[in-house]
Amino acid sequence: MKRKPFMALLLAASLTMGIPAAYAKDVPGPAPQAQQAFDNKIVKRINVDNIYNDIKHLSSEPRVAGTEAESRAAQYIESKFSSFGYETEIQPFTFESYQEPTISVTVADAAMTASNLTYTPNGEAAGELVYAGLGQASDLAGIDVTDKIVLIKRGDISFADKVLNAAEAGASAVIIFNNTTGSLNGTLGAPNDNFVPAVALSQADGEKLAAFLADGQTISATVEVAGGGILQQTSQNVVAVKKPTNKKKATNQIIVVGAHHDSVPGSPGANDDASGTATTIELARVMANMPTDTEIRFITFGAEEVGLLGSYAYVESLSQDERDRIVGMFQLDMVGSGDAGDLVMFTVDGEKNVVTDLAAAAGVRTANPLGYGQESRSDHVPFHNAGIPAALFIHSPTEPWYHTPQDSLDKISKAKLQETAEIVGAAVYQIARPDTPALERAKVAPKPVQYEKIVGGL
Ligand code: BES
Ligand code: ZN
Repeated sequence: MKRKPFMALLLAASLTMGIPAAYAKDVPGPAPQAQQAFDNKIVKRINVDNIYNDIKHLSSEPRVAGTEAESRAAQYIESKFSSFGYETEIQPFTFESYQEPTISVTVADAAMTASNLTYTPNGEAAGELVYAGLGQASDLAGIDVTDKIVLIKRGDISFADKVLNAAEAGASAVIIFNNTTGSLNGTLGAPNDNFVPAVALSQADGEKLAAFLADGQTISATVEVAGGGILQQTSQNVVAVKKPTNKKKATNQIIVVGAHHDSVPGSPGANDDASGTATTIELARVMANMPTDTEIRFITFGAEEVGLLGSYAYVESLSQDERDRIVGMFQLDMVGSGDAGDLVMFTVDGEKNVVTDLAAAAGVRTANPLGYGQESRSDHVPFHNAGIPAALFIHSPTEPWYHTPQDSLDKISKAKLQETAEIVGAAVYQIARPDTPALERAKVAPKPVQYEKIVGGL
């Protein structure tokens, strides 16, 4: 990226905030020139082509949680980490996902367009169609629904309660129709052994059938639900650990640099989040042989897109002692789009913390100051929830290709990648290098430089 001339940087720094000292209050930091020299140990080693090439490799296919493609990506990442000499580990974890069933509904031998109610059991039913209003117990009390298919209108009580009430009364299947226009994409909330097969119809179709039945007509129906259910799937985190180089002088503290390697279905996920994954890999390479007194864990998480599952699994796997020793977590997610805004930092509570302080100071030294704001949609969340200072590094506003098939390599900007790698690399090295004091947990050791809250966030 284009950098400011060194003198201009110094001048700007002294005018706005004095010396951008980024650490402990009691211990004077080196002069800015010396800090710049330390940053350069990282900055000069970063090779943005490595990041770009890893994005190219990773984004050759979607890496959906639980698929072989995700697992292939994890193996690729591990092979990179171990080629730099790290102790590495692929940590598998399981999760459940819901497989949509195929549905068919006929009424008086005519096929209807029906939709799924998530968590319906599979099954087949054939019999008379009966209308039972809103499907409350009182609606069902006066009618014989035994082995019949019950037509119920949406409203007042949950879909699950409607299905349970009908099942309790002896129904063989349930058809719920919408009480508004548009298709009904409902859920029964969770699987339940007492459910009978349940499907959904549009308001127009449902009202028509209800009117026929109110007219006293007898209508036969069939409902078939097949192939749905809960699937057990496996995803994995990839972990590379850089132990302190001098055991005797080690701080006993840990820093985590993370990203997620999975993507959403149908998207190459070049920016989300091959960009963060590849930047994590490059920072691991750059730091592999640097002297450090703080443990650094480079981690790429699986199954982020389906609920931050990898990072939750990782944090759960940590002992209390490890949690206490982790002093900061840097999450890199969507850090390379040429069509997105500036690099920003997001915390779960919208407040500054030691991670944002370090990166803001690094930004002032290496490039530009960063803004911060509040956002919770990435793998920094489980760390925050465990009491660990954490921040998401991302460009804001987001590019239009987010979660689309267009999130591809051609949209990636090397300048954006370079800036992120420099700032995060310099921030991490600031605490990991042996000559800076350990961070005091909970007491924010770095003296914050001036950086602004972003109004509005994303
Ligand atoms: N990288 C996104 C999160 C994101 C996107 C944050 C745009 C800020 C702006 C992430 O991979 C994602 O999509 N997360 C999920 C949330 C998760 C809890 C399933 C999302 O936002 O849908
Ligand atoms: Zn993401």
